[in-house]
Amino acid sequence: MSERPGGTDPVVGVLGAGRAGTAFARVMLAAGIGVDICSTRPPKALRHHLKIYAPGAQAVWPAEVAVRTRHHGPGVVVLAVPQEELDEVDPQWVAGTEPSGVVLVDATNTWQDELLPGWLQAAVDEQLPTSMAIAGRFGGAGGAAVVKALNHISHHELEEAANPELPLGQRRAAALAGDDQDACARVMGLLVRMGFDPVRLGGLPAGKIMEPDGPLFHRPLRREDLLRYAR
Ligand SMILES: NC(=O)c1ccc[n+]([C@@H]2O[C@H](COP(=O)([O-])OP(=O)(O)OC[C@H]3O[C@@H](n4cnc5c(N)ncnc54)[C@H](OP(=O)(O)O)[C@@H]3O)[C@@H](O)[C@H]2O)c1
Repeated sequence: MSERPGGTDPVVGVLGAGRAGTAFARVMLAAGIGVDICSTRPPKALRHHLKIYAPGAQAVWPAEVAVRTRHHGPGVVVLAVPQEELDEVDPQWVAGTEPSGVVLVDATNTWQDELLPGWLQAAVDEQLPTSMAIAGRFGGAGGAAVVKALNHISHHELEEAANPELPLGQRRAAALAGDDQDACARVMGLLVRMGFDPVRLGGLPAGKIMEPDGPLFHRPLRREDLLRYAR
């Protein structure tokens, strides 16, 4: 297990340390949220990458990504691994064990050239929201509650889009969709702290509208724009 410094800041886990995962980490760190982040690389190898792309984030093993947030945070892990790799992501890493269940924020998107795992391709073929398939794999009895969020803002824009200094009504809106009220409340709290104005569109099926071919994707929207899509 890797060493971690102590500290009183809340901690959030991030699965995936690429363009999206490190952008989420930078915004969270700037907002005073600690970040435990992992990739396919061992923590020692990941540390150099983090010095450049997410200074201050703590490199951990994937199996450790939910450990600190369970005890010192909102119990939230952000999934920022390409969908084509999701068969390699073990649901046990984020399983909802005591003392509190973990919320998995599904920040992933489907890109046309991706060769998806069969369980995910089946959902795409049926035009179901991919978050529902992800909830089927990572949720269920003893699993994490899944909330779709953070997928519709590009990593290029994320830091500029997030502004915790602004009053809520003047911030960029961030959509979320999820079935579990407590899980959605935790994710809304995180989005507020990151500097967004969160709008819950509805249960997980509402996440379909947040996908790349939908009207929200990469568009700088405000609360009133998102409310038109809320169910
Ligand atoms: N890029 C964006 O602007 C953006 C914004 C919102 C959402 N998204 C979505 O977020 C997801 C990731 O996109 P990205 O652009 O960040 O991809 P990326 O730059 O290719 O990064 C992918 C990351 O996932 C890690 N990874 C792959 N397999 C893994 C595994 N089995 N266990 C742990 N980590 C694993 C990779 O590890 P290594 O570093 O060790 O290779 C890498 O750090 C996609 O679904 C994308 O649609 C992207």
